[in-house]
Amino acid sequence: MSATTSGGGGVVTAEPAAGVDVGPLEDFAVGEGRAVVVDGRQVAVFRHRDGRLSALDAVCPHAGGPIADGQMDDRVVVCPLHLNVFELSTGRSCSGQRDLARHEAVVEDGRVVVRLAGRWAAPGGPGTRRATRL
Ligand code: FES
Repeated sequence: MSATTSGGGGVVTAEPAAGVDVGPLEDFAVGEGRAVVVDGRQVAVFRHRDGRLSALDAVCPHAGGPIADGQMDDRVVVCPLHLNVFELSTGRSCSGQRDLARHEAVVEDGRVVVRLAGRWAAPGGPGTRRATRL
């Protein structure tokens, strides 16, 4: 089910945003994170050993550390600069920092597709575009 509102010259729909193709799955090493840029936003994509993907904002809220370079297990990632810890499934801080935004990352036709949190589709339906990789 979707909700649609209009007014002010635009239409807002509650359908998920179009995905952005950030590259082939084989470019994402198992058990590691990789930073990509999606619509100008740095996103850290993590490939779990069980096949899942997680995606969080890539910049640590503590002091700007590179979250994609952190050590991960099946549940958390540890920022490499000062060792703050964030849940991979939610972005929630486990060490008293601000939470990281969580995004959707899925595999479609062998490629990793990211949908940013809080973004909504333009009228006309979703599609998949290609993104810039860091
Ligand atoms: S910058 Fe991430 S823990 Fe300090």
